[in-house]
Amino acid sequence: MHPAFPHIQACVFDAYGTLLDFNSAAAQARDVLGDRADRLSELWRAKQLQYTWLRSLMGTYAPFLQVTGEALDHSLETLGIDDAALRSRLMQLYRELAPFADVMDTLGALRAAGLRTAILTNGSQEMIDATCAHAGITPLLDAILSVDDVGIYKPHPSVYELACTRLGVTRDRIAFVSSNGWDAAGAAQFGFRVIWCNRYGQREEHLPGHPHVEIRSLTEIPALLGVGATP
Ligand code: LAC
Repeated sequence: MHPAFPHIQACVFDAYGTLLDFNSAAAQARDVLGDRADRLSELWRAKQLQYTWLRSLMGTYAPFLQVTGEALDHSLETLGIDDAALRSRLMQLYRELAPFADVMDTLGALRAAGLRTAILTNGSQEMIDATCAHAGITPLLDAILSVDDVGIYKPHPSVYELACTRLGVTRDRIAFVSSNGWDAAGAAQFGFRVIWCNRYGQREEHLPGHPHVEIRSLTEIPALLGVGATP
């Protein structure tokens, strides 16, 4: 067990980029997008996150599904693409994102060891429920928690607090896992024990709050928490 993770009772995961591959939506539409798929995906994700933070500051919360659509509209306009059928296809594909290859075994190993597992996401409840069902990971989760219930986006502390109240676990007994450096920082600042799954090889953010450990694959988590390796 890693010394930063004693007495962990629940492992709480970010969804997009951590369990679900958001690049898989644009990749599935590569037949139409061609070599613009990667650029679109990058723009779409960046604008989606910006809009969550801007709406939080503006006090104008709207569900992530709507924000994701508005971010897609801006990104398509930026690339000079005017195609309503492509827009609706991409939005449908976003509901059907693929899980990363390390997700099932890791969730299964944590559950088998008696730890509780949950998602804490910006995703709207209906959207994330549908995506988890499509990805086949719902049975491996004790809870799927959405910011819909607090009406503001991560990294606002009230979002992280939601995991404590809904799971009935204190913040120092929650291992929080995110691939997003800013989310890892926000969660550490809140008081979670934080695992930064740095899938994309990014530099650490210069923000308050520092992840306790950095990994490259979710398969490293059971050993960090002292529950053995994945099968
Ligand atoms: C989420 C985004 C931030 O799942 O990745 O909350």
